[in-house]
Amino acid sequence: STQNTAPATATAAAAGAASARIQQTRRYLMCRPEHFTVSYTINPWMEPANPTDTALAVRQWQALYDTYIALGHEVHLIDPIAGLPDMVYTANGGFVIDGVAYGAKFRFQERMPEGPAFMDWFRDNGYEVAEPVEVNEGEGDFLLVGDTILAGTGFRSTGDSHRELAEVFGKEVVSLTLVDPRFYHLDTAISVLDPVEGPGGVEKANIAYLVHAFDKASQQVLAERYPDAIRVADEDGAVFGLNSASDGLNVIISPRAKGFEAQLRERGYNPVLVDLSELLLGGGGIKCCTLELRR
Ligand code: ARG
Repeated sequence: STQNTAPATATAAAAGAASARIQQTRRYLMCRPEHFTVSYTINPWMEPANPTDTALAVRQWQALYDTYIALGHEVHLIDPIAGLPDMVYTANGGFVIDGVAYGAKFRFQERMPEGPAFMDWFRDNGYEVAEPVEVNEGEGDFLLVGDTILAGTGFRSTGDSHRELAEVFGKEVVSLTLVDPRFYHLDTAISVLDPVEGPGGVEKANIAYLVHAFDKASQQVLAERYPDAIRVADEDGAVFGLNSASDGLNVIISPRAKGFEAQLRERGYNPVLVDLSELLLGGGGIKCCTLELRR
């Protein structure tokens, strides 16, 4: 179910937040899960013996799509390909900044054909493609926070891809190491909350994160860089609460992440609840189904 709650500017004022949150219009790429199923295991959530309901996956995905449209965002679609059941998780298809798409090179053979399929889509839609040499799973492991790219490694994207990423975009890349196999992509453990740019230029962007998904050194980096971050409880992380999409004001999250929902409200954000339980059987959630197209 999709719920739109009260305007968050009122919530922010009531909570005495320092400033009203600013919503930014986003451009996203999604893929209707017409061929969704779980037929192999490449993360701990996937259990091929459990039945999947493709029609339910499509309905839940549609609710996410409709939510983005209702909030004023622009959503582009890539055609799903039979035999690629994980293609619904478009976040893994690349990483896009300023019209340049750094292509994905998937870790596991089952998803490898998705890399060229997404690169074709980028080219056909006017993006310049930087072909990857190194193994990387796009926005699943790379998150733009302000003008810095946080990059995950440990399960999927390699440390070498972080260097390649820095060369392609000429931005600061901060490597973070994931240690819990349930949180194998960075976007399952960190949620970027704030706009990259506000009326006064690049603003200090904030994040929410799951402390225990990271090794000690990465925990320290996060604590130093983001002293105001929302630290999310393990129980909210375990229901993929961090796998969310924010436009600076509205934060689309799982309805099961109750504690995170309350933390967001306290800070003046507007949590919008969308349930993707069927897609969680593949080990993905809201953010996984969403790739940001930055032009
Ligand atoms: N079954 C997919 C995989 O294991 C799920 C990908 C989830 N995507 C994400 N951005 N976390 O690759």
